Amino acid sequence: MDKYVIRGGHPLTGTVDISGAKNAVVAILPATVLANGVCRIENIPNIADVATALEILASLGAMVRRIDRHTVEIDSRTIVTQTVPHDLAKKMRASYYFIGALLGRFGKASVPMPGGCYFGVRPIDQHLKGFSCLGAKVMPMKNGMIDAQADQLQGSSVYLDMVSVGATVNIMLAAVCAEGTTVIENAAKEPHIVDLANFLNSMGADIRGAGTDVIKIYGVERLYGTTYSIIPDQIEAGTYMAAAVATGGDVTVCNVIPKHLESITAKLQEMGAEIEEFDEEIRVSASGRLSHCNVKTMPHPGFPTDMQPQIAVLLSLAEGTSIINEGVWENRFRYVDELRRMGADIQVDGKLAVVQGIPQLTAAPVKAMDLRAGAAMVIAALAAKGVTEIEEIQYIERGYEDIVEKLQKLGAVIERVTEDDPGLQQAL
Ligand code: EPZ
Repeated sequence: MDKYVIRGGHPLTGTVDISGAKNAVVAILPATVLANGVCRIENIPNIADVATALEILASLGAMVRRIDRHTVEIDSRTIVTQTVPHDLAKKMRASYYFIGALLGRFGKASVPMPGGCYFGVRPIDQHLKGFSCLGAKVMPMKNGMIDAQADQLQGSSVYLDMVSVGATVNIMLAAVCAEGTTVIENAAKEPHIVDLANFLNSMGADIRGAGTDVIKIYGVERLYGTTYSIIPDQIEAGTYMAAAVATGGDVTVCNVIPKHLESITAKLQEMGAEIEEFDEEIRVSASGRLSHCNVKTMPHPGFPTDMQPQIAVLLSLAEGTSIINEGVWENRFRYVDELRRMGADIQVDGKLAVVQGIPQLTAAPVKAMDLRAGAAMVIAALAAKGVTEIEEIQYIERGYEDIVEKLQKLGAVIERVTEDDPGLQQAL
């Protein structure tokens, strides 16, 4: 297995172009199933999850044409099956969005339980409740497959028991061509929810209220091909901002929507970072010891849970004691053991972590426990004294396009090596 080898202690400086948003594109690609025509999607990030989503579309029979690294054309009129293969579905969480899309287009879907990062139990009861409210028959789970059918989906009101990005996406996909009006209450408000609604509306859907906690979907007869560009990735941007702060650097993240980053910017400022906002760029710099602060992760517009591991690294280096309250996931502190190997002083109790800041992390062999935990280990290695090796990097490359090249351009000493490549260690 490949790994990253990073020599820490180099402040990151310069500019980094942010790619299209992973959590938007993994919802928008399945949504192309609903189009009676060709969809051209631009600004897609070149990451493993996109490759998986495109493989699933091709396995269904859709025509998938890669125009370039960041542009793809999809024609779903050639789809011949509504069954998603196990080996592809288990590679990522978002494969379950094909249930809503296939149900919405064909009235049936057979999709395996998804894979994705492990944060404890990740139920899908709200997704299935939404499909049932729309009149679909959801069969009891068999052989790990989720089977749903509907002669004609009927618009309905769905009140989500908790804010769920996935359930909001899946219900939107099933409801856009249903008969009548669907109202999703307690809906997720993330930027990627708004991006999906905008994409569907560009195909001829009639969705209003995305970005608020009540989304109304007026069913339409059919949807058409479109051309659409994915929004920038708020979490990739936040990750580079955190890396700039952790290394005492000065980095400008480019092609961003500052409004999407407000909670992250505010928290970094609270810790003592200097922030300068422009129309489509944010400049982040930090020098000296960071100040401790408390973090509670919440659904948007709260501080994003997908930035929790990354901010924990900064708090590990801050002056004083900080508390992290993980408000979304049951167990999103699996990375803490890895961070402790580097000297971090963190005590975890359920959804709470107490962080005692230390002046310096030290290099150690560590591994990525999941996508964002892996990103946090990269940040820790960039700040640590010495050469750190990170294994299980496949998790990181599910969601960060060209992370090695982007960091090298910012002055990081990082290489991607295959196991036991003796030459590099000395070079670093
Ligand atoms: C999406 O996951 C993201 N993944 C996650 O990002 C992100 O952490 C999460 O939203 C929260 O923002 C994608 O968009 C592909 P949820 P999702 O449904 O949809 C509970 C990353 O790093 N719940 O909003 O699976 C659930 O257990 C990934 O990019 C139910 O109980 O999250 C959790 O406690 C990791 N029943 C809470 O709701 C359900 O039917 C929020 O989950 C659905 C969810």
